Amino acid sequence: MQINLRLNNQDVEFEAAPGQHLLSVLRSNGVFGIKHGCETGECGACAVLLDGRPVNTCVMLAAQASGHDITTIEGMGGAQMRGWRGSAPLHALQTAFIEMGAIQCGYCTPAMIVAASALLASQPNPSEMQVREALTGVLCRCTGYLKPVQAILRAAAMLRGEDVPLITADGAIPAPPGLFTPRQQNADFDLPEFAGGNGHTALKTTPMPTMVVTEREADRQYVGKPEVKVDALKLVQGHPAFTDDIEMRGMLVGKLLLSPHAHALIKHINVSRAHALPGVHAVLTHKDIPRVAYTTAGQSHPEPGPHDNFSLDHKVRFVGDRVAAVAAETEEIAQKALDLIEVEYEILPAFFDARNAMKPDTPIVHDEPESWRIEDKNRNLAAVIDWELGNCEEAFKTADYVFEDTYYSPKVQQTPIEPHVVVTWFDENDRLIIRTSTQVPFHVRRILAPVLGLPEKRIRVIKPRIGGGFGVKQEVLLEDICAHLSIVTGRPVHMEYTRAEEFFASRTRHDMHLHVKTGVMKDGTIVANALHAISDTGAYGSHAMTVAGNTGHKAMALYNAPNIKFHADIVYTNKVPSGAYRGYGAPQGFWAVELHMEHIARSLGLDPLEFRLKNAIKAGDEHPVSKIWSEGREGAAEHINSCGLPECIDQGAAVIHWHDRFNNPDWHIVSGQPHLRRGIGVATVMQGTAIPNLDMGAASIKMNDDGSFNLLIGATDLGTGSDTVLTQMAAEVLGCPPEDFITYSSDTDFTPFDKGAYASSTTYISGRATVVAAEKVAQQMKEVAARMFSKDGETVSAEEITLHDRAAWSPDGRSVTHREIGLNSLHLEMQHQIMATGSYVSPESPPPFAAQFATVTVDTETGQVTVDELVMAVDSGVIINPVTASGQIEGGMVQAAGYGVCEELAFDEQGRGLNPRFGPYWIYRADDVPSLTTIFVETYEESGPFGAKAVAEIPLDGAGPAIANAMYDAVGVRIKDGPLYPEKVWRALKQKQQL
Ligand code: FES
Repeated sequence: MQINLRLNNQDVEFEAAPGQHLLSVLRSNGVFGIKHGCETGECGACAVLLDGRPVNTCVMLAAQASGHDITTIEGMGGAQMRGWRGSAPLHALQTAFIEMGAIQCGYCTPAMIVAASALLASQPNPSEMQVREALTGVLCRCTGYLKPVQAILRAAAMLRGEDVPLITADGAIPAPPGLFTPRQQNADFDLPEFAGGNGHTALKTTPMPTMVVTEREADRQYVGKPEVKVDALKLVQGHPAFTDDIEMRGMLVGKLLLSPHAHALIKHINVSRAHALPGVHAVLTHKDIPRVAYTTAGQSHPEPGPHDNFSLDHKVRFVGDRVAAVAAETEEIAQKALDLIEVEYEILPAFFDARNAMKPDTPIVHDEPESWRIEDKNRNLAAVIDWELGNCEEAFKTADYVFEDTYYSPKVQQTPIEPHVVVTWFDENDRLIIRTSTQVPFHVRRILAPVLGLPEKRIRVIKPRIGGGFGVKQEVLLEDICAHLSIVTGRPVHMEYTRAEEFFASRTRHDMHLHVKTGVMKDGTIVANALHAISDTGAYGSHAMTVAGNTGHKAMALYNAPNIKFHADIVYTNKVPSGAYRGYGAPQGFWAVELHMEHIARSLGLDPLEFRLKNAIKAGDEHPVSKIWSEGREGAAEHINSCGLPECIDQGAAVIHWHDRFNNPDWHIVSGQPHLRRGIGVATVMQGTAIPNLDMGAASIKMNDDGSFNLLIGATDLGTGSDTVLTQMAAEVLGCPPEDFITYSSDTDFTPFDKGAYASSTTYISGRATVVAAEKVAQQMKEVAARMFSKDGETVSAEEITLHDRAAWSPDGRSVTHREIGLNSLHLEMQHQIMATGSYVSPESPPPFAAQFATVTVDTETGQVTVDELVMAVDSGVIINPVTASGQIEGGMVQAAGYGVCEELAFDEQGRGLNPRFGPYWIYRADDVPSLTTIFVETYEESGPFGAKAVAEIPLDGAGPAIANAMYDAVGVRIKDGPLYPEKVWRALKQKQQL
């Protein structure tokens, strides 16, 4: 059928199948600014304006839109004028999103802007709460919504004609091309305050966090400044940057048949009817492809975990496991083909409680002989970790008090708004191209080569823009099966998880049962601390050993007792597999340890802040776990070079008014509402920065004849801003602004190797590699400049030359521009290419530290816990870009609040997922996030580039336990199993009343 639309002010006609949704029709006609995030209208990534109203196109039939006016991001500014000389102005919203750093991965950005434009059309002067309500239909997993809300309020002011200054803090953000309107830059302008609408604090108009600068190198031109993200302009216009934003002739759609059973053998499978369906090009079962055991964990060689996956197998081990795959002309045909596959299962007994995994009569999940690097198949033990410093049992005997408790950290899902998506095809050289949304392109290539039976050099992995990852894309999940389908059909194949598949067929956080036992003296000194974890890796052992290893390495290192013990059993169950998730085991550990420390402090009548600080590790201390465990190996002793934890505690406590509120009965009550109680809580945490002596990053820089540079990065920017901060570092060394760089990441053919984005390593490892490359290029430039200066008998040496302001400067004040150097080296004298590659692997992993605070209001009648404020004071070394870094903290805090309050994957007694949708699996919306405050307490980390440490993962560690401790403070009940669902809290309150 034909539909007629007025699309972005142009009349268009599109063909549409009767049941086809508007999302599919628009995207198949090249309107890539609208995104697929779900199929139920719950994430809003596909939002457009229909006659001026936001609608979700994934649930709207194309036929319903016929005759209507549709506006997408492509119709809002800039993009519609592409190809013209010059560029059209951006919409004020697009400009404000760039300026305020409101874009992280950028996947939700077009929908946010579209939704906001509808609001501003009807309400030119909205309150903060009106903005939040307008964004409620668009989920963002990256930003915590703070900067998008600030951006929309800013855009509203711009549209009202108010004189809105450029963001000022440490210098103005340079204006990107095509801005809404030229405005004055005034570094001293006082930013006006918008009235806050969330009932807590007035919303600041600046995206800058509070900066507490304790130590710093000399003045920097670009490092430490809130530079605009290098990819902001394309993302704000909805340019086709993501994996799925391509069109290919003859591309097939791949789909998976997933198991309805938690544990079964495939006795018989008949695909003949599916094969016979017109439009079907391939149907694959375990009989059709080689049986190669591999791990989906994207880690450096040799991957330390179990190799227990098969692309397709004759056994299924969880509801959602793969049974068969098809490739067909359309999604509808592919789905029909799946329905025609006949499978006869032999149902096997299944189990879902990790605590039963090692019991004698429990079914064996992996009894196949091909799997390897499994600790003990017969006991469902994927991996085990056991280490001890000192002797805890002896120390417990001498302690004045021993506290012992068991905690549970729930199974949660990463939920990037962009699901896993991949396109595979063969190029003209018969090389397999894998275009995929991955955090680890080089690991994908290496891991898949034996699985596909192709040499690595015949595989090229392209990582376009990623719509969020959070660890779940540190997995090799769809690439293998999509490639198998391309190998069989010879055609390009596209595969993408549905949202339900993302929840119950991809990866999750390891849920853990954690038993903590702590010996304490009367003065609050911890003398022994022991943690026993049972980690549920689900049906496959992805990241099994290393995630739990990180639980011990981080959560048991913060309190530097003379006796520390850690034991983890990482066991299989018949649940959806676990894997990497931002924080990587540390959030589970700190959930237990920080609830436990709070309990000890309160039981002994000690101040929770002082108690923590008294026992916490300090600068100069040896990292207690460093020698004993490092990613499954023995490590080398590492010392803490920099630690701003005491200042973090002071700063955070001041901002959240700890000393006015804690132990203040008046603050804990809400006047006129006796059923409400307020509480305040804290958690202190540490993370790591990269994996020492293992993971390597590299970057290369090439100078062009106009003085610009190509910066090729093997690392992957998930939305974290790493492309930007690496560019800032290169810019600092080479003495020119970031806009002089064409930054590209990553492609296994063109960019140098990098282990990928995980372990909080990109700024530190890939950043150091970038600096190494930039220093080599700088040296080459100085040599050319020295030759250019050394005319007429005068000699200038390269060592005397400095680079700044886009030029090389001789000691006597003469200069040659970068462009002149580029032209000279490529065209005029001693011609050669100025370029270099830098690599870096670190011998250490300096920890960032943080104090995270929360206030909550608990409704004692319903059990509802409302998080009012989250404050995080963090020592991440020197902050390279305060806007992108604070965006990481804000988004991370909100993500972490989820596992504290509202997120948990639920299963029925058959192991079937009960909440595989964004509706029942609740992640924070724009209108229910708490007030967020970020404070950077800068230290100077000697080993880091420009003094930097990691930012990305640490916000996941403490928000959950801080909230739980605040709830305890509010109502005096301890809940040790997250999340703090209302029913759970209500039951605990009832139980307390009965005591
Ligand atoms: Fe919103 Fe990534 S920036 S989902």
